[in-house]
Amino acid sequence: MENPTIKSFKLRGTRITSAQGAARERLWSDFGIDFSESVIEFSSLFFMVDSVTLEIGFGMGEATIEIARQNPKMGILAIDVHQPGIGKLLASIEEAHVANVRVMDADAHLVLQVMIEDSSLDAVHIFFPDPWPKTRHHKRRIVNPSFIELVAAKLKSGGLLHIATDWEPYAFWIEEQFKKTRMFTGGIVERPSWRPLTRFEGQGLRKNHLVSDFSYKRI
Ligand SMILES: C[S@@+](CC[C@H](N)C(=O)[O-])C[C@H]1O[C@@H](n2cnc3c(N)ncnc32)[C@H](O)[C@@H]1O
Repeated sequence: MENPTIKSFKLRGTRITSAQGAARERLWSDFGIDFSESVIEFSSLFFMVDSVTLEIGFGMGEATIEIARQNPKMGILAIDVHQPGIGKLLASIEEAHVANVRVMDADAHLVLQVMIEDSSLDAVHIFFPDPWPKTRHHKRRIVNPSFIELVAAKLKSGGLLHIATDWEPYAFWIEEQFKKTRMFTGGIVERPSWRPLTRFEGQGLRKNHLVSDFSYKRI
């Protein structure tokens, strides 16, 4: 990111329910990963997994849990800064008895820059990134050339970046950003059967928004 003071998120709805707060208190030491200046060793984070996926902006974590349940051998490192969602995802991990999800409360840019080793990720998921519809806010859109470069550095060769959006102008934007890079091949795809419905997608569908899925493979 060119300017680290420009954030791709706005801290909203910090009202956290008592159940979400209690889940955070109780479960952070088991499933939460604190931000630190050192690289994460995935082998110390996950056991018995054969791939690692980074999910950026999990919201309330519906997709995270469902994908983890369906893929017990996929380690998922899920990042967001949305406090109610962090509590909710921790509670869902406990409820679903999944062993393959770890949660971070941090800016994904920093995590990628500092804590993720180059060529170490099998996949990155970004489901319904904040669309930032106003022109003056486009600089906040997470999908931009420097972010694409950062993700490219962290994916293994052949690794996959999956993005979904219900905001048509953002879908065009995403295609434009990827035209500027030679680090990926791919583009728009059919909605994959493995991608669960999320809260934001549901809201978009109720407003008759068209949902677009993109799959990009690291060359
Ligand atoms: C529109 S919501 C979508 C949430 C969820 N994926 C869904 O589909 O319901 C986007 C989420 O991305 C998170 N987010 C945006 N930029 C982020 C960043 N740089 N690091 C971590 N999370 C971020 C926001 O906090 C928010 O929860």
